[in-house]
Amino acid sequence: MSAWTDHVAKWRDCTACPLCRQRSNIVLARGQVPCDVLFCGEAPGASEDALSLPFVGPAGHLLDQIVDRALPPTVRYALTNLVACYPAEAKARGDNEPEYSEIVACRPRLMEFVALAKPKLIVCVGSLAWNYVEHDAYGRVRGANVIQIVHPAAVLRMPLAQKQMAVQKAIVILRNAVDSMLQ
Ligand code: URA
Repeated sequence: MSAWTDHVAKWRDCTACPLCRQRSNIVLARGQVPCDVLFCGEAPGASEDALSLPFVGPAGHLLDQIVDRALPPTVRYALTNLVACYPAEAKARGDNEPEYSEIVACRPRLMEFVALAKPKLIVCVGSLAWNYVEHDAYGRVRGANVIQIVHPAAVLRMPLAQKQMAVQKAIVILRNAVDSMLQ
């Protein structure tokens, strides 16, 4: 069995936090493993829960466009989230973020995935991922650089003029970080 298959087998029935009762499918990761760049978002949404893949809804489509414009095709990347299960009850309350206790419960799964993916660059998608990953020193522990870009779901809520600027800024931040990584 590959390390990825082992990872899936280990976590697919995870019951470490109450989110396990809210998911239809666990959402571990997508992309290439190992990778050069690992994108870490917050939590799966309804589309991700349905397909069992991160960033496949509207925010994911925008993130794909940003990544396509910023990363050379030779750079391998993967995507995951702070938590692997759809926080359906929080979303129903209008609260978009997973609880801190849920993020902490999912930490061993995320740490294992970072160890498997061996990224040189970790891109935190949104401030929640940044606050958590940066303070938890994933990057320093694994020898990866850690940066933050705007969350594409926040971009989708912006007025059109701001949207274009926010996308452009994310592309520039990513390109600069990837250029430094490749040097
Ligand atoms: N938002 C996230 O943070 N992660 C996803 O997988 C989808 C939307």
